[in-house]
Amino acid sequence: MAREKTALLRVEGLVKRFGGFRALDRLSFQLARGEALGLVGPNGSGKTTCINVITGVYRPDGGTVLFEDRSANGLAPHLLARRGINRTFQSPRPFASLTVRENLEVAAAHGGPDGPRSDLQALLAWLDLDAVGERLAAHLTSAQQKMLDLGRALATAPKLLLVDELAAGLTPAELERVARRLRSLVEQGVALLVVEHLLGFLDRLADRVIVMNAGREIFQGTLKAAARDPLVREVFLGRA
Ligand SMILES: Nc1ncnc2c1ncn2[C@@H]1O[C@H](COP(=O)(O)OP(=O)(O)OP(=O)(O)O)[C@@H](O)[C@H]1O
Ligand SMILES: [Mg+2]
Repeated sequence: MAREKTALLRVEGLVKRFGGFRALDRLSFQLARGEALGLVGPNGSGKTTCINVITGVYRPDGGTVLFEDRSANGLAPHLLARRGINRTFQSPRPFASLTVRENLEVAAAHGGPDGPRSDLQALLAWLDLDAVGERLAAHLTSAQQKMLDLGRALATAPKLLLVDELAAGLTPAELERVARRLRSLVEQGVALLVVEHLLGFLDRLADRVIVMNAGREIFQGTLKAAARDPLVREVFLGRA
């Protein structure tokens, strides 16, 4: 009998309320190992909230998050990091008074499913941060802070990586390097959820996209098909 490829992450009917407002309104999707899924939507549509619920910043008010077929609902972020889930932040906040290397060491101490990463020097080089390894994180450029934030997540060797607008504010050359790095992670089998407004960047990375509006999925498919979808066009461009 053929074995079904089971999803690494299954999100089912996720609800997150802030007061009476539903930031996530029964959101469902799946993500397989080695798959890159884009998450797009207008400002305030619930993209960051989705990442926050999956990574344990918020407990969902309804629905479930299953990771490797086990519930991941309501677990603290550091326990989820140990299970193999980590993320980057829309606004990175490294430990400013620690060096770049020390920031990675702190993250690595939280370990991943196979224990902490020991090759932090290689990780620094891979992120183009080897020349600033001993510099205080407070003294990095914003592009370098983004790479450090990616490094912090990768130091726990995640199976599922969620990135929140990593491309914003990068130069075209930096974008190119980051896209190549993320693509190589996917080729190594990491599942990637990419929240991004820059569609050109997303197009290079994502196998398919989910478009959100007001906490709900309004489209799932290729980015090309999304661009032709009447509802997606209405949400992004407004009524003509
Ligand atoms: N901690 C919070 N308390 C109250 N409301 C919140 C909180 N976090 C998010 N929201 C609200 O939930 C909605 C979704 O926010 P979210 O940050 O998930 O949007 P987003 O899609 O990531 O937007 P952007 O593209 O601007 O980053 C917004 O209306 C936001 O104001
Ligand atoms: Mg956001």
